[in-house]
Amino acid sequence: MEIILAKSAGFCFGVHRAVDMAFKTEEDKKTYTLGHIIHNETVTRKLKQKGIESVEALDNIPMEKVIIRAHGVPEAVYKEAESKNIEVLDATCPYVTKIHRLVSRYEKEGYRIIVIGDAKHPEIIGINGWTKEGCIIYKNKEDVDFTELDLNKKYLIVSQTTYKKEVVDGIVKLLEEAGYDVKFINTICNATSERQEEAKEISKEVDAMIVIGSSFSSNTQKLFEICKSYCQDTYCIEEAKDLNAEWFKSKNKVGVTAGASTPKDVIEEVLEVLKGMDAQ
Ligand code: F3S
Repeated sequence: MEIILAKSAGFCFGVHRAVDMAFKTEEDKKTYTLGHIIHNETVTRKLKQKGIESVEALDNIPMEKVIIRAHGVPEAVYKEAESKNIEVLDATCPYVTKIHRLVSRYEKEGYRIIVIGDAKHPEIIGINGWTKEGCIIYKNKEDVDFTELDLNKKYLIVSQTTYKKEVVDGIVKLLEEAGYDVKFINTICNATSERQEEAKEISKEVDAMIVIGSSFSSNTQKLFEICKSYCQDTYCIEEAKDLNAEWFKSKNKVGVTAGASTPKDVIEEVLEVLKGMDAQ
């Protein structure tokens, strides 16, 4: 059985940077991460061993330092930390910070902000919190409600960094064709589009496809959807023990990719187990 591993599988630049910052921070202060630094249990456990746990909000916990994860947070969180005298270790991915700056700047210039993404995703909650008026959030084309838009207004459109390009392009086109004054700035991160493109190409040529990542990770789920649409036998697993030898019976070529929050050692272990299944 031939195994093809996507070159772009695993930690992206922003996640790598955030995890690195968390592990390298000095243990001189009581430190928490605001939300899990990444959706990965091994990383969460190792951080806990270092004395760093995760909290959902800054309230009611005596803390001295807070680590902001790669997804970023609303502006109000920085203000709250400052007012509570909590040191901020900001691991927001620079590509996400760029979106915060864009929405804040364009709003000041009179634009209403449209964000394409999942309203419940922390990255979108963060972006929304960098505008005064709040953003119009569309998850898909069907969410576009022309009655809440104004042909006399200017709109800036950005998207969640990990969103599917086809969905974003479709919404931009819909609004442009309807005659709205829109400025679109593509904020899909290259790491994501490259990973998605590579996954698509590999899934076209294999008999089975494995996507490694958490069920909580939106970019992993997107990868799964893309692969599944080209390769019926696509499976999403969190780690090697989730592999099932039955999936690979009479398969000649198996592709492997992984979401942005999947550590290298998890990917290596999956490859090892896969090779072992092949030898059986
Ligand atoms: Fe940043 Fe792109 Fe990763 S936005 S967190 S490098 S997917």
